[in-house]
Amino acid sequence: MRVLGLETSCDDTGVALYDSEQGLLAHRLYSQTALHLDYGGVVPELASRDHIRKALPLIQAVMNEADTRPEQVDGIAYTVGPGLAGALLVGAALGRSLAFAWNVPCVGIHHMEGHLLSPMLEPNPPTFPFTALLVSGGHTLLADIQALGRYTILGESLDDAVGEAFDKTAKLLGLGYPGGPAIAQAALQGNRQRFHFPRPMTETRKTHGAHPGLDFSFSGLKTAVATLIQNQPLNPQLIADIAASFEAAAVDVLAIKCEWALQKTAAKKLVVAGGVSANQQLRARLQQLSQKIGVDVYFPRAQFSTDNGAMIAYAGYLRLAAGQHEPLQFSARPRWDIQELSAL
Ligand code: KG4
Ligand code: ZN
Repeated sequence: MRVLGLETSCDDTGVALYDSEQGLLAHRLYSQTALHLDYGGVVPELASRDHIRKALPLIQAVMNEADTRPEQVDGIAYTVGPGLAGALLVGAALGRSLAFAWNVPCVGIHHMEGHLLSPMLEPNPPTFPFTALLVSGGHTLLADIQALGRYTILGESLDDAVGEAFDKTAKLLGLGYPGGPAIAQAALQGNRQRFHFPRPMTETRKTHGAHPGLDFSFSGLKTAVATLIQNQPLNPQLIADIAASFEAAAVDVLAIKCEWALQKTAAKKLVVAGGVSANQQLRARLQQLSQKIGVDVYFPRAQFSTDNGAMIAYAGYLRLAAGQHEPLQFSARPRWDIQELSAL
């Protein structure tokens, strides 16, 4: 089965072709970073317009690279949500129209399920069940993953997502957008121990929130940085030290909560995905943790940590192969709880 995947939930246009026999055949990504740079963040209307410009040429390029004709495509998958409404609608309308024209089934994918399954595109893929840490610009989730579509949230952020905290802190430090890679880069020259930023909600396992001990809070971390720089001029070394100390605090919190979650689920596998999983400090720290407690840890390749079409094509393949069919009408879901997904 060969599936075309479309990802247009935010500021990246991702397209890929996944084949159940041959694996990933081709994938292309067009990043809108330059378009939004001057605004310090994603401008939704500009994002939608750029997806419209880029999606079809990317589909053409992927089809050519994979030497695939429309008759050879067995299904189409697009991101239905969560994300920016207008951006999602571009992928939804395009995916549905192509499926109609090519007379093949089409399925709408939950963006975080795409991230969740992305490590399965790598050699030695994880198998269900496992515990997952999903960390992106919009989400920070710990979840118990029993099977495809059977997900129970163990903890989530009560305020900013961890990627959002990286982005906001980078903005405070004048490091630009997107903040995650910028902070990680600046941190390379910095002293991780110079500032001890708070590790919110790690002092005790019995903190507030819907999931005692496993929820997160990252807005205080960003505020601590804001307070620190309020009365002092920034210079490159100070920026690097703050970036390194901030990254250390964020990584600490994520690692502590992963350990607690694994104690709770007794799972032997930890899957880590989403944009922030590209972070090398986080990867190294979770590798250490996995060795310490005897758990295998799985990441996507760095390129597929952030948004991409391959994860949507793959999730689409799994759902279409399991017989999921949807009617011709379509919608986008800017907000969508991952626990509402259909199990297969
Ligand atoms: O998954 P993603 O590409 O888009 C969303 O679904 O949100 O994640 C983007 C987020 C941004 O907040 C970005 O700053 C963060 O992932 N990110 C990183 C790194 N690369 C991307 N955060 C920390 N370190 C990185 N190397
Ligand atoms: Zn994402």
